[in-house]
Amino acid sequence: MRDILIIVLSLQLLGSLQSQMIPKEIKKCHFGESQCIVDSMNALIKKFPRGIPALGLKPIDVVDIRNSKFWNDERVGAFWLQFDLFDQVNYGFENTTITKVNGFDENPTSSLIEIHGRIPSLIHKGSYFSQGRVWIVQLNSTGESFSDFQNFRFVLKLKVIMEYRNNKRYLKIYELNPFVNMDRWVFWLDNFFESNTDLTIAINQVFNLHWVEFWNELEPTNLKIFASVFRDIFEDVFKKVSYDDMFLPVPKEFAVND
Ligand SMILES: *[C@@H]1O[C@H](CO)[C@@H](O)[C@H](O)[C@H]1NC(C)=O
Ligand SMILES: *[C@@H]1O[C@H](CO)[C@@H](O)[C@H](O)[C@H]1NC(C)=O
Repeated sequence: MRDILIIVLSLQLLGSLQSQMIPKEIKKCHFGESQCIVDSMNALIKKFPRGIPALGLKPIDVVDIRNSKFWNDERVGAFWLQFDLFDQVNYGFENTTITKVNGFDENPTSSLIEIHGRIPSLIHKGSYFSQGRVWIVQLNSTGESFSDFQNFRFVLKLKVIMEYRNNKRYLKIYELNPFVNMDRWVFWLDNFFESNTDLTIAINQVFNLHWVEFWNELEPTNLKIFASVFRDIFEDVFKKVSYDDMFLPVPKEFAVND
């Protein structure tokens, strides 16, 4: 009786695991068929911007981001700055167009997976907290921050390993490197100089005029944030949907024996 119960329960569980299928309206592709994979990813983004929880696909119209420290200087000397962002949210991933993919082969561990895409406007909203000293000016401010990465292009390079569960292959990301580019970064901090609106406007204008230098200095931190955002988007899908279920079955006579 006990054994039968276990078997029935396991079958039930297996059944429910196996039902984690890509929706019918999203076309499945053959392994390595890059253009088809691009089209299906774009269809998935367009049709399900609010995600598909059963597949581990999170909503991409509003994406939470972890808190991050941009500057954390020692509090010594005439110039130091500590700058934290928190309660951050990204908007605009739902307008992503995937432009190119590489490496979704039958054996994806043998090559790098690449995903190229474009987002017309990636909005980043949050709160900031800043303390610092610039010459005789003492900084101690908190307020809202706003970022707009315009015509944001990204390339994600993924290294994956395979995990086997229930005789199926699941992808696990062990490295994700983003490369990003944009036409312009618009950045605004409210209330940066608490008692001086003119100075707040002036400093924001300086930021925006010199956004390239500003970006270059912040790129390592920004890339870490983007890596964790993109990783969060993919990781659960890879955990819930087996790699084999994402693609059309390989005809038996061509199947690779491994
Ligand atoms: C996404 O695209 C729609 C339609 O073009 C637009 O209305 C919306 O503002 C865009 N979202 C963001 C965050 O830019
Ligand atoms: C900064 O401002 C906060 C709240 O406005 C205050 O509690 C804190 O003591 C201030 N810190 C300094 C170093 O002035």
